[in-house]
Amino acid sequence: MIRAVALLVALLATPGLAQEPETEDVLPAGPGREAVFPLCTACHASAVIRRSGLTRERWDELMDWMTERHGMPALEGEQRTVIVDYLAEHFPPRRTVPAGRGRNPFQTD
Ligand code: HEC
Repeated sequence: MIRAVALLVALLATPGLAQEPETEDVLPAGPGREAVFPLCTACHASAVIRRSGLTRERWDELMDWMTERHGMPALEGEQRTVIVDYLAEHFPPRRTVPAGRGRNPFQTD
């Protein structure tokens, strides 16, 4: 019994296994965060958002997909603008090539 408890404690102490509730500051501060956080983390962890990098247009489309496919309440009007602006501002498409790399070294201009 003691061993089972010890195992459970060890499991809970393992990062990633214990699901600590997330707080708003897992997302970058900025206008719109207080709207994005509760809405978008109702169904999934913020990591799903943080690992994405999309253009504003793609974020906008993703909102429809999230509604049609996953049953997120439809976003409209100002709320939609605020949320999509926030996502586009903080999670833009990532550069695939780090700055300064991938340049053709024989190119002189
Ligand atoms: C009603 C539930 C729900 C809500 C609310 C919701 N999502 Fe999702 N979202 C999902 C599910 C379910 C998936 C997993 C999709 C899959 O399995 O392919 C997902 C996946 C994603 C993905 C990954 C898409 C990919 O490329 O695989 C992103 C990014 C995302 N959501 C962003 C958001 C954002 C931003 C919000 C808030 C505006 C939001 N979600 C709100 C259910 C939801």
